[in-house]
Amino acid sequence: MWWHNAVIYEIYVRSFADSDGDGIGDIPGVISRLDYLEWLGIDAIWLSPIMKSPGRDQGYDIAGYLDVDPVLGTLADVDRLISEAERRGIRVLLDLVPNHTSIEHPWFGDSRTRRDYYVWSDQPNNWVSTFHIPSWTYDDREGRYYLHSYLPEQPDLNWWNEEVREHFDHILRYWFSRGVAGFRIDACYIIVKDRLLRDNPPAGPRDHLWDRNRGQRPMWSAYQPEVHDVLRRWRKICEEFAPPRLLMGATWVPELDELAGYFGAGDELQLPQYFQFLFAEFDPRELRRVVEAWLAALPDNEVPVWVGSSHDLSRFPSRWCDGDNALIRTGLTMLLTLPGSCVLYQGDEFGLQDTPVQTEDLRDLTGQCRDTYRTPMPWRDEPGGGFTSGRPWLPMGDVAACNIADQMRDPDSVLHNARRLIARKKALKGVYRPVEVCDEMWIYRRGDVRVTLDFREGGPSRTRVEGTIS
Ligand code: BGC
Repeated sequence: MWWHNAVIYEIYVRSFADSDGDGIGDIPGVISRLDYLEWLGIDAIWLSPIMKSPGRDQGYDIAGYLDVDPVLGTLADVDRLISEAERRGIRVLLDLVPNHTSIEHPWFGDSRTRRDYYVWSDQPNNWVSTFHIPSWTYDDREGRYYLHSYLPEQPDLNWWNEEVREHFDHILRYWFSRGVAGFRIDACYIIVKDRLLRDNPPAGPRDHLWDRNRGQRPMWSAYQPEVHDVLRRWRKICEEFAPPRLLMGATWVPELDELAGYFGAGDELQLPQYFQFLFAEFDPRELRRVVEAWLAALPDNEVPVWVGSSHDLSRFPSRWCDGDNALIRTGLTMLLTLPGSCVLYQGDEFGLQDTPVQTEDLRDLTGQCRDTYRTPMPWRDEPGGGFTSGRPWLPMGDVAACNIADQMRDPDSVLHNARRLIARKKALKGVYRPVEVCDEMWIYRRGDVRVTLDFREGGPSRTRVEGTIS
């Protein structure tokens, strides 16, 4: 299957390329850059949500699952994107947000569906939203509280309701029929909630950082066994299509055995995302531990997908490498030579760093200040960065210091290096075997190929991939 050894390129659509000068990236903008993506050699693009949304959480609050957000384009644009991408051997994955809708979704407007499709309680329990606010908001019309695992504008759907499940069956088939190759599924591990809405226990010292920060372990608000019924149901829908469609889950599941459970018996997600790189230091011993732990926990015949950067938790060229080009090459070499697939977040391929955003320019309305990792792509050194002819919706950062056009002209650039690694990755099939790790280096083999990762700051770097690829 193509996703067993693939580079999936995450496009944050609003910040990729703007075709109409309104300062916001859009789908025609993505189409206009497909030649670049083909040149880079990636296998698939995953688009941040493009469905109709009032944009309280930049598209992660959907008001129409079968409609395209007019700010980003039209359904015809999506069809054209799929066929133009296909012509270049690139598959298109969409982001599906099944845990919650927008408060503006017609289901929340209509009194019958509002009552039946969402999660209600007379008394709020102690659950705390991912955005660190109480998870319950009082609704005057119902005289009760509704649940929201994120913002009050993102009410959680009631996945115990068969009608909700049927709607999503239809949504999946609808997009798959249009040629979408699969979905990245947002927050899929939390969609089903404890029926009794029991209080979560406090987080303990052994809990993951993201639970400790929130002060509770989401024992009843997430990870319910019934989530797997839904995933199995969706996987069957994937298999109705030829070629079968892909489900890549945004699975913030700290226990590796539990995370491995999201593969099911080969009948759930094909790629549950493993996020531990986002919390790990750029230290050879630590990264090796993180990698080997997940490889050891993987069920037979399943592959990992590695994630170094994301629109939620910063770019690795800043977080790990502080902009040091030698270290960025090491990071890319690791991501692109480990077994399985990897997600590159737009900009990773040329070492784009987080961009500081002044308070008055912040556009993330959730209070999470994630704008610094969502600023627009610097295509060229010019005003608007080749991203837009208008005023970019977020600041561009220093486009002269780092842009694609300059790096394309330089065969020794981070970008060209990433392109060579991507080309090599396809042929890299041998199993992972550790050779050596010390304070500065991590060396491993993939069959006859030997990968040396150098973690020392500054050059000259000893990072390299050597040997014949069988
Ligand atoms: C997305 C976030 C979003 C949240 C709520 C996450 O998985 O990546 O950007 O704010 O879900 O939908």
